[in-house]
Amino acid sequence: MKDPSRIYRCLLLVASLVTVGYLVGAAVHENYLAQWKVVQHQYQDILRQKATDDRGRELLAKFRVEMKQASIPALGAVDRCVTCHNGIDDPRMTDVEQPHRTHPGHILDKHPVDRFGCTVCHHGQGAALTFREAKADDVFWDYPLLPPEMTEATCVTCHDAEKLPPDQIPLLTAGMKLYQQKSCGSCHKLGGRGGALGPALDNEGAKTKHQLIMTSLRPPHTTWNWQLAHFRDPGGVVPDSQMRNPTVTQREALALAVYMLSQWKRDIPESYLAPDKIEQKYRALHPTPLTGEQVYQQYCNACHGNGSYSRWDKKFKRFVPAIRGVSLVSTATREYLQANIEQGRPGTQMPAWGPHAGGLLPDEITGVIEYLRAGAPTAPAMTALTLRGDPSHGLSLFLRNCAGCHGMNGRGGLAPEIGNPVFQRAATDEFIIGTIRNGRVGTAMPAFQRPEAPTLGDQDIADVLAYLRTLGEQKGRNAIAQNVTLSAPPGGRP
Ligand code: HEC
Ligand code: HEC
Ligand code: HEC
Ligand code: HEC
Ligand code: HEC
Ligand code: HEC
Repeated sequence: MKDPSRIYRCLLLVASLVTVGYLVGAAVHENYLAQWKVVQHQYQDILRQKATDDRGRELLAKFRVEMKQASIPALGAVDRCVTCHNGIDDPRMTDVEQPHRTHPGHILDKHPVDRFGCTVCHHGQGAALTFREAKADDVFWDYPLLPPEMTEATCVTCHDAEKLPPDQIPLLTAGMKLYQQKSCGSCHKLGGRGGALGPALDNEGAKTKHQLIMTSLRPPHTTWNWQLAHFRDPGGVVPDSQMRNPTVTQREALALAVYMLSQWKRDIPESYLAPDKIEQKYRALHPTPLTGEQVYQQYCNACHGNGSYSRWDKKFKRFVPAIRGVSLVSTATREYLQANIEQGRPGTQMPAWGPHAGGLLPDEITGVIEYLRAGAPTAPAMTALTLRGDPSHGLSLFLRNCAGCHGMNGRGGLAPEIGNPVFQRAATDEFIIGTIRNGRVGTAMPAFQRPEAPTLGDQDIADVLAYLRTLGEQKGRNAIAQNVTLSAPPGGRP
């Protein structure tokens, strides 16, 4: 039998050799093969080729292979990007490969590296010494490098987008326009104005990948990629999303994504802000009112379409009323429209637009009412009825003729909520009677007193009205049991 201690000594020797080999390998890798050192040796060669004049020779002589960084405490940045991007502010480096190349455009003249660094515009992990970690789209880092064309999203950290030359921010400019054209404000608040169905977007650019649903997204799992995919198909990224597909091209999606990423209330010292950014903050406190048509386009259009026909909404699974339709505007009073717009219809998708909700200015609400009523008769056509109504007969008529569309108790159906408290408060009896008699042209709401074949007589309509009014009292079925009798004299509610 061999001496077992020999086997152990052999094993120990092998283990030591492996460890030493590994350490030597690591040292070589760190000191000679580290990505940034390879890059800098390449750069030194380039400097040598370009050292054709005194200045060139001086730059070559001064070049050291060493780690380089811009440390900017005011921006919380330690950016070592220049360790690899050595030629970034050398105008001679236009004909060489990345990462040696001169920065495109003249942007570094106005934003010198030692004062601004790189990550304030590009994002990415400033302290990293490999490109993979600097890019940071597959490592733990909140704000990975933006694709070059999306970098303009960060300009508005310090600038007022309206004051920058549009050719420097082409995607951002297009994104701002699309946001209005696509009526995104119908469902989202930005700067305190907009609808309530989707989340407010004021700080969308500050979101990290952990705050968004990444499960259905193809890599890279970055917020910029999420935004792009979400604009192409919201439901494909967020299951059962109520957001309508904005139907945009790839480039339009890019523009919207850039605009969204630009929404970031970053805390930047005032000395870093361009003067117009400071003015912008004060201007935002005093917005200029939009015209009625602009309000409609930006804040109503996504739900109501052009407003002249009632839309069947696939996502909402209901009709969205024709608010510029001839039947509505010829019967609805200004007060009725104002109440519905200011207060919305709680419990439905229709949001409230008053100053403390959707943030529209009083002038803008007046403006949009004018816009809805454009072409309507100045005094709405009124149809009066002097009959006394019986709510319990009204209920059975309602269940037979109306509930299929308007829902039990006039709520939660496919058609507008005629049991909704805001509707009940705002609608006059004449308005309701007129709507039942004549229906609404261009919508699913039928006329119940067509001259050739009336479905309901005057007494029936009075009964239905009496029943509908019990819904406004919010006592529901009890009120009917008590047989509350209501009448509808001309000129007002009982
Ligand atoms: C270790 C060296 C290294 C560091 C550090 C580094 N880069 Fe780079 N960078 C590269 C290389 C190499 C490329 C070319 C890569 C390629 O084309 O795949 C590159 C490319 C880029 C590009 C173009 C990317 C593209 O998709 O076209 C940008 C922008 C960029 N770097 C910015 C930065 C910023 C900002 C930092 C600091 C946060 C940084 N880099 C740090 C080596 C580096
Ligand atoms: C003031 C903002 C700003 C700063 C600061 C800035 N960049 Fe850029 N950079 C941009 C913009 C915007 C673009 C895209 C411009 C274009 O394509 O014309 C860009 C483009 C680039 C590109 C070219 C990408 C490509 O392949 O098209 C590289 C590389 C790059 N920057 C690296 C850096 C590095 C490294 C720093 C820091 C030394 C830096 N940048 C600082 C705004 C900035
Ligand atoms: C960290 C803040 C910051 C960021 C980010 C930034 N800038 Fe600037 N920029 C400034 C400051 C500060 C000035 C100097 C303003 C001055 O001196 O009037 C400036 C100057 C400029 C100027 C010259 C303006 C003039 O009137 O001379 C242009 C153009 C410009 N920036 C474009 C951009 C673009 C495009 C981007 C995005 C790619 C950008 N900036 C990102 C802070 C920033
Ligand atoms: C019909 C209402 C509606 C319209 C119109 C609409 N959205 Fe949305 N949006 C939503 C809802 C609901 C969500 C939440 C579900 C989701 O993420 O898909 C959402 C989510 C978002 C998100 C993700 C927010 C987050 O942080 O989770 C962004 C960004 C966004 N919308 C931008 C837009 C833009 C830009 C437009 C215009 C092109 C638009 N939306 C139009 C309803 C809408
Ligand atoms: C086939 C479905 C359908 C039936 C049945 C129906 N309605 Fe409607 N109704 C609608 C639609 C759709 C609208 C919204 C029309 C629009 O776009 O302006 C509406 C609107 C109304 C309005 C105005 C609501 C508002 O918000 O301005 C009243 C009041 C009304 N209906 C009462 C009735 C009554 C009472 C009955 C039964 C006698 C009835 N409806 C039957 C579909 C229907
Ligand atoms: C998110 C979708 C959405 C947006 C945005 C929206 N509406 Fe509505 N609106 C609705 C729905 C749904 C109804 C029907 C509510 C109900 O069921 O009672 C409605 C009802 C109304 C009514 C009552 C119509 C009637 O037939 O009596 C008016 C008036 C109205 N909206 C005006 C506006 C105006 C003006 C804007 C823009 C400032 C606007 N809406 C924006 C979804 C929306």
